[in-house]
Amino acid sequence: MDADVIIVGGGIVGLSAARLLAAAGARTVVIERARVGAEASTAAAGMVAPQAETAEDSPLLELALRGRDHHLALAPALEAETGLSVDLACRGLIELAFTGEDLRRLEARRSWQTRRGLAAEALGPAEVRESEPNVNPAVCGGLYIPGDRCVDNVRLVRALAASAVARGASIVTGRPVTGLVVESGVVAGVQAAAEAFRAPVVINAMGAWASQLAGDPLPPPVEPVRGHIVAFDMAPALLRHVVCSPRGYLVPRADGRTLAGSTTERAGFDKIVTAAGLGTVLGIALEIAPILGDVPVADSWVGLRPGTPDGLPVIGPGMLPGLFHAAGLYRNGILMGPLVGEIVAGLVRGLASPVDLAPFSVTRFAAGRPQLVPERVD
Ligand code: GLY
Repeated sequence: MDADVIIVGGGIVGLSAARLLAAAGARTVVIERARVGAEASTAAAGMVAPQAETAEDSPLLELALRGRDHHLALAPALEAETGLSVDLACRGLIELAFTGEDLRRLEARRSWQTRRGLAAEALGPAEVRESEPNVNPAVCGGLYIPGDRCVDNVRLVRALAASAVARGASIVTGRPVTGLVVESGVVAGVQAAAEAFRAPVVINAMGAWASQLAGDPLPPPVEPVRGHIVAFDMAPALLRHVVCSPRGYLVPRADGRTLAGSTTERAGFDKIVTAAGLGTVLGIALEIAPILGDVPVADSWVGLRPGTPDGLPVIGPGMLPGLFHAAGLYRNGILMGPLVGEIVAGLVRGLASPVDLAPFSVTRFAAGRPQLVPERVD
């Protein structure tokens, strides 16, 4: 099959790029190793929370805030186009403090965010309980972030795929891509087992598998970072907002379930749900809302986040003409995935990125370059 652009990976990033490239008239093929959205895109809890999850001095901050704005425009556009709602919630996020150290961290965050003109409001314990009557009565304060929110990422995957196909993209599933086809030093397509797919442009949107594209001289050093999620069955929902502690989060879904997360484990590609992982997530959930102790657990699963050594994504041209990366979104794939897909689709079309991509270049991992320390949120 000949195309103008091949996108390897049918998650949120790849589908977002596909719908934009197809709309621009490019013959676009998405090649997915399993099912559309089979991995982190649907395993995540759906946080769209740049203010709760990004540090002040992080090179990610602008991308994260723009990622949230992008969701505000994307959700109604996708609904108008596909008839599918992605349930982008609008009530905001409350982060809880249970210790003096938790309170100090929340106050530091409130302070830098208000200085930057971002809405963030300190709450006393009584105000927290007024906003969220079912949280732990031991709460000693909170931070209300009205702009942070959540989205139903499973619905988002469906809507992006429907849009991409309606705009003319092809999606090939069940086909693991093993490597690039390179001719005279430039990208000419990809190899999927015995089959070659030809195109002069290839986008690596392979999530946790992004390091595994043979033939790339400098592959993004992405590794899977496992996260456990527990789904509580609750109807009516016991929470109004996304509610976090410094240790994790509870995300109420429009379908009545509440998702709790998460762990960060380096366990390779092993997707087993472990007792230790469940124990950690249940501990997070019960600290935030002990009432969950009486609520049935409906489901549990793990997802593999695409982590990089410095915690930052890899976005931009690769080391071969025709190769682009949109990889390594780690803990921010739902938040930033649609925007990163749009940015890389723009790069392919010769458009400038609205965000400085220098900190996200794959060249930072070239041999001999100093490496940044991992991202930390405070
Ligand atoms: N952004 C949520 C997580 O990675 O667990």
